[in-house]
Amino acid sequence: MSEKQQVVPTVGVVVVAAGSGQRLGLGIPKARVLCAGRTLLEHSLDAVIAAGIASHVVVVLPQDDAVLSSVVAAAGRSGGAAVTAVPGGSTRTDSVRAGLDALPASIAVVLVHDAARALTPPDVFRRVAAAVAAGAPAVIPVLPVVDTVKVVDGDVVTATPDRGGLRAVQTPQGFDAVTLRAAHAAVGAAGPTVTDDAMLMEAHGATVRVVDGDALAFKVTTPLDLVIAEAVLARVPVDATSLPHVAG
Ligand code: C5P
Repeated sequence: MSEKQQVVPTVGVVVVAAGSGQRLGLGIPKARVLCAGRTLLEHSLDAVIAAGIASHVVVVLPQDDAVLSSVVAAAGRSGGAAVTAVPGGSTRTDSVRAGLDALPASIAVVLVHDAARALTPPDVFRRVAAAVAAGAPAVIPVLPVVDTVKVVDGDVVTATPDRGGLRAVQTPQGFDAVTLRAAHAAVGAAGPTVTDDAMLMEAHGATVRVVDGDALAFKVTTPLDLVIAEAVLARVPVDATSLPHVAG
């Protein structure tokens, strides 16, 4: 191989979709909620597959969910990547670990993505994967924080961090696979206060780098988010990813 030839690492994506969606209040798992007539998981998998970077996609589902299992099977038939499902755990970290365990050992770069970020443009996946392939062990997409943020103790404000140094964090988050597996193994059973995988990498001593996120990668969490997602899809009925870049 000549010096100029680049080795393209094999990329796997873990899509975590095993959450209950309690904050949406619809009584079904969030990934199964319909948005413009399709489940949030279908929208998420469309973006993963359109990004065209992954050889393997593992989708982490609630136990025994026949609807979401059939969504995963259909995505697998679309070609391009092997798409499989595994059952999740009681915390997000447990679910990510189940997905990691199901990826082939040969995968060099892992992207971990929240199914709830259903409208994430494929470019964000490519941007994160490219930064990891270029040598960063951990890469997260971020946006500037527009609100002033306070630290509180009960109902008393104790500090106001400088907004300029804060970033709101999205997914997909990308990692060197060996380092991510080691970070998960080191933490053991992580509680619900571990809200993303970059936290585990920071605790493991790995440098976490940031790239531009995208406003369309917002997490569908509340009923208002669902209204916004429906409005975005109604505005561009065929491909929401062709909206102008609205980061920043
Ligand atoms: O609850 P939270 O908003 O942090 O969930 C983020 C993502 O993690 C969602 O896509 C959700 O389905 C997933 N999750 C999971 N297993 C859990 C909890 C959350 O796969 N036990």
